[in-house]
Amino acid sequence: MLKNRLKLNAKKIDLFLKKYLKGQKRSLLISPMNYGVLSGGKKIRSSVILATGKLYNLKSNKLLNICGAVECIHSYSLIHDDLPCMDNDKLRRGKATAHIKYGESTAVLAGNSLLTLAFEMISDYRFNIKDKNKILLIKKLAECSGHTGIAGGQELDLKYEKKRKNFKDIINMQRKKTGKLFSFCCFAAGQIAGKSDKANRDLITLGEDIGLLFQLADDFLDVKGKSKYTGKTVNKDKKKGKSTIVNLVGYNNAYDYAINLKKKILRKLEKHGNKANDLKSIVNFILERKY
Ligand code: IPE
Ligand code: IPE
Ligand code: MG
Ligand code: MG
Ligand code: MG
Repeated sequence: MLKNRLKLNAKKIDLFLKKYLKGQKRSLLISPMNYGVLSGGKKIRSSVILATGKLYNLKSNKLLNICGAVECIHSYSLIHDDLPCMDNDKLRRGKATAHIKYGESTAVLAGNSLLTLAFEMISDYRFNIKDKNKILLIKKLAECSGHTGIAGGQELDLKYEKKRKNFKDIINMQRKKTGKLFSFCCFAAGQIAGKSDKANRDLITLGEDIGLLFQLADDFLDVKGKSKYTGKTVNKDKKKGKSTIVNLVGYNNAYDYAINLKKKILRKLEKHGNKANDLKSIVNFILERKY
């Protein structure tokens, strides 16, 4: 069952993160950082990394630092996303958001620290991959997180509030704020497996499509989901005037678009045969999920 596999993967990554944080020097920010990255969460990006690794028979141990780094960046982006100056949310993963629990300044600083911890994890001497790959992955992760990735996408998301943006602009914003980190997940596995530049370019597009699908599904959950499953307050996007595809063309049209995107992704995975089974299940899960 995929859901059990996802849970097992999440447990494995949580254990890695817990140990890694324990190995850090003490500081006031360790507790809010722990809270931000270990307070639940599906760790779906880690499962995408591991499932992409399976396309090339990569063992999960070779990918743990990448998973940990991606989860740190994702959790940092959520801590900041929930701040009053952004989405102003009080509930995350069924618990108080970081700034509600620890205060705004601490939440900002814990977020910053998770962002930089991600780069410590990849550059760590104990992470046993070629130095050349480490440098390349650090560069790629920086691109996917900063102004050409998450941060840039988040800026657009906020600037687009209460504006009538067109389909293309919204998709571009979602590809940045959510797609780029998923594209890194697929790319990283390919790079560590020693795949060609062409294969890795394909993985980047594939990952970005998976991330876009993930964000579309997140927007569906805001409309049709239940807070007890999502762990977040629902029905907020419309109130905030968020530019989402759902708000632009309506739920059914947006869902049709997502189904077609999902089919396109699954078609791209065909060439990998059975080795893509995990990744295919994840893609199906992404659109059907309730949490
Ligand atoms: C939510 O991400 C934010 C988006 C990018 C859509 P997740 O749904 O992966 O959040 P957690 O980590 O499982 O809580
Ligand atoms: C968040 O999008 C995207 C990020 C990169 C953080 P949302 O603002 O829709 O995510 P939720 O619904 O708060 O989790
Ligand atoms: Mg947001
Ligand atoms: Mg939000
Ligand atoms: Mg959302």
